[in-house]
Amino acid sequence: MDSSPQLPKNKRNDQLRASQAVITELEMCLTQLTGQMLNTKAGLERETSDRRSKEDEFRRSTEQLRELSARLQSVREEERTRIAREIHDELGQALTGLKMDVAWLQKHLDRQEPALLQKTLAMSDLIDIIIQAVRRIATELRPGILDLSLVATIEWQLQEFESRYGIESQLISAPEETVLDTDGATTVFRIFQEILTNVTRHARATRIEVSVEENDTFLTLRVQDNGRGISKSEIDSPKSIGLLGMQERARLRAGEVHFQGTSGQGTIVTVTLPLSTTNAQMLEDGL
Ligand SMILES: Nc1ncnc2c1ncn2[C@@H]1O[C@H](COP(=O)(O)OP(=O)(O)OP(=O)(O)O)[C@@H](O)[C@H]1O
Ligand SMILES: [Mg+2]
Repeated sequence: MDSSPQLPKNKRNDQLRASQAVITELEMCLTQLTGQMLNTKAGLERETSDRRSKEDEFRRSTEQLRELSARLQSVREEERTRIAREIHDELGQALTGLKMDVAWLQKHLDRQEPALLQKTLAMSDLIDIIIQAVRRIATELRPGILDLSLVATIEWQLQEFESRYGIESQLISAPEETVLDTDGATTVFRIFQEILTNVTRHARATRIEVSVEENDTFLTLRVQDNGRGISKSEIDSPKSIGLLGMQERARLRAGEVHFQGTSGQGTIVTVTLPLSTTNAQMLEDGL
């Protein structure tokens, strides 16, 4: 038997109406909320697709920048090679011709003209000095020996470095020859020059040791100085454009440059370059 007190009929109707009013209000709120949620969802979807297309755009521009930078590097290298050859061949030949002419003059000059003879001797000496300077400038622009041997070029650069900066420099180990192509050898050599410049500018080192290793897949160049040691913050700084440039240059050949410093003990820079594009892919995949 139902024990709830029986409400008069008109009171029950009032309650029913009140409940219906609440339900209608709730339904309206729900409709509003659903509308707002749908709007938010549409907004989020728009944002996600905007973000995705911005990411795609960013990726594309980074790729384009990379390609541009690669193109610039190779144009710069081609230009250096061309100028070095022209300076060496054309100026070199002209100077050699001039030297022969002066020698001819010396031979045919009247012995009675000692002042003139003296002058031609001085001219000949000057021409020798200019020939040396032309060779040096051409080699500094791009050592021709790089087309023949990376190891020999590194050895030559180390001797130059030691005599110019008085920093004891030693190639402690290297293979007889490497199988790396000229393009790869140029990449390694330019990074090597940049490492040496950093040693002279920042390391306060008295000695450097260099090694070159090559196995079936990679070539590794290691340069160790005994200076103050590069710090972690210098390695990670976005302002270290020189370090980034070396890494980017290696990356264009799917290689890597790694820096490691110990305070007061020195810096080690390791450059790894795959010998072929197949190995390049392996290095990228971290195998
Ligand atoms: N061998 C080194 N020993 C100690 N510190 C180094 C060495 N190489 C680089 N550093 C530090 O790392 C910093 C970044 O080097 P990075 O080559 O990027 O720049 P930079 O040589 O100052 O300028 P640039 O852009 O002309 O190369 C240097 O300023 C220096 O403080
Ligand atoms: Mg630098």
